[in-house]
Amino acid sequence: MEESIVLIAREFSKEDNGKLFELIKEVKEYDGNFEGIDDIRNVTDYDMFLKDLERRKHQNRIKPDYSPQTTFGAFDDEKLVGVFVVRHALKGRLVNHGGNIGYFVRPSERKKGYGKQVLSLSLEKAKEIGLEKALVTCRVDNIGSAKVIEANGGVLENEYYDEGMNKTFKRYWITIN
Ligand SMILES: CC(C)(COP(=O)(O)OP(=O)(O)OC[C@H]1O[C@@H](n2cnc3c(N)ncnc32)[C@H](O)[C@@H]1OP(=O)(O)O)[C@@H](O)C(=O)NCCC(=O)NCCS
Repeated sequence: MEESIVLIAREFSKEDNGKLFELIKEVKEYDGNFEGIDDIRNVTDYDMFLKDLERRKHQNRIKPDYSPQTTFGAFDDEKLVGVFVVRHALKGRLVNHGGNIGYFVRPSERKKGYGKQVLSLSLEKAKEIGLEKALVTCRVDNIGSAKVIEANGGVLENEYYDEGMNKTFKRYWITIN
């Protein structure tokens, strides 16, 4: 495994425009799989994207049965290495799968330790948001994601089969110190 460098997690700013679109382009050319950060896939207008991220942080600006969420980028000096979402509450289907945290490492930077780092950063941000524990889930066949969760202290509660999706998910809890 190649060495990873220390990433900085922060919310997106106006200047990150090019970095976000570069990541989106890379993912679309790779496999088009935005699992964990599905909303990023369809971004075309960056200003709208920033406004939408801001709106989604506030319960009074979203549907009552939706969970507020904050989206972060994980940056090295040059580029956007990963993206993650912290959901402030567990509403609706999030309890079964989806959980409090969704994370993503751009394809060209995988298997360098960044996944573990990105989840660790997510837990720091979750703590700042006020969470004391986080539900983190992954498909049973997502070996990399399961390793990332276990390396961050995930304790497997159970597996959940989603009939509509015909997919089974591992559900882990992580205590946030
Ligand atoms: C899952 C994901 C975040 C892993 O990121 P990553 O940067 O490759 O993770 P790391 O480099 O920290 O690797 C963690 C471990 O998983 C292993 N791993 C990573 N990808 C793997 C894969 N596709 N198959 C098998 N093992 C894998 C690594 O070798 C490492 O193993 P080790 O602990 O024995 O050294 C990344 O593949 C990704 O973004 N996938 C698409 C989105 C996604 O699935 N998000 C999670 C939603 S639940």
